[in-house]
Amino acid sequence: MTRKVTKAIFPVAGLGTRFLPATKSVPKEIMTLVDKPLVQYAIDEAREAGIKEFIFVTSRGKGALEDYFDKAPQLERSLEEKGKTDLLDILKATNMESGEIAYTRQHEALGLGHAVWCARRLIGPDEPFAVMLPDDVIASEKSCLAQMIEAYEETGGSMVAAMEVAPEATKSYGVLDVKSTKGRVNDVAGMVEKPALGTAPSNLAVIGRYVLAPTVLENLSTIKPGAGGELQLTDAIAQEITDGRKVYGFEFDGRRYDCGSKAGYLQATVAFALSNPELRDEFAHYLDGVINHKMAAE
Ligand code: G1P
Repeated sequence: MTRKVTKAIFPVAGLGTRFLPATKSVPKEIMTLVDKPLVQYAIDEAREAGIKEFIFVTSRGKGALEDYFDKAPQLERSLEEKGKTDLLDILKATNMESGEIAYTRQHEALGLGHAVWCARRLIGPDEPFAVMLPDDVIASEKSCLAQMIEAYEETGGSMVAAMEVAPEATKSYGVLDVKSTKGRVNDVAGMVEKPALGTAPSNLAVIGRYVLAPTVLENLSTIKPGAGGELQLTDAIAQEITDGRKVYGFEFDGRRYDCGSKAGYLQATVAFALSNPELRDEFAHYLDGVINHKMAAE
């Protein structure tokens, strides 16, 4: 039987340079989709999957992110006095209990693998754990991480979220070499981080959700820098296979938005606005107008 997964690591130390100048003062993880910060989507997804402890790997300049998780008693009082219970509920749903959230710092930008390694002392020696990259926002009926943990409880080992991408896009991802497939679960024979064009073992890409065996943390202490000269999480997971342990790629049910890119962020904004009951009609009407106007002009 697998041990319950109750901790998730959120690597949020990145500089977010693709969103400059906004990220000069706003951590990209608290940029919003409609009205909710990116990081809140990841936290809601984690809670639905049974995660109880949230570990953030931050860096200099992420103060606003830490503040976001504080309670806002003054604001709560003022909403209470005005009888704005709807807003009060929204606000309270984002509160974190003291001790439920931990922060550790990545002191140097040495890669995703290094960021996860920075949280090693907060994970027990026999404890499987999740990693969630808040840039990857996944819209799904059932939380993507919940789907994965359910599958992981059957398989054990380590599991990464996986999705087919266009062959020319594989160079931006970790890519899986698949041995065999059963339903949504792929038995993985190898993994390559950001393979050069034309060299990818498949077009099944790793998406930012992981359920990992504690040995991956040990591997992170010994692996050498990989793609881009950085310590890669992909390489530490691939090491599991070399050491005779199992790694699975889980093809989740849901739609993933790459909110680390401007195009993906805008697509997510449109999708979430269109699925918001308060905005849907007005926004769809507006989009129709924009598209018709453009077509008429062409
Ligand atoms: C990271 C991982 C990569 C994964 C991707 C998913 O890359 O290193 O394996 O495919 O996230 O979003 P990054 O996007 O940080 O370059």
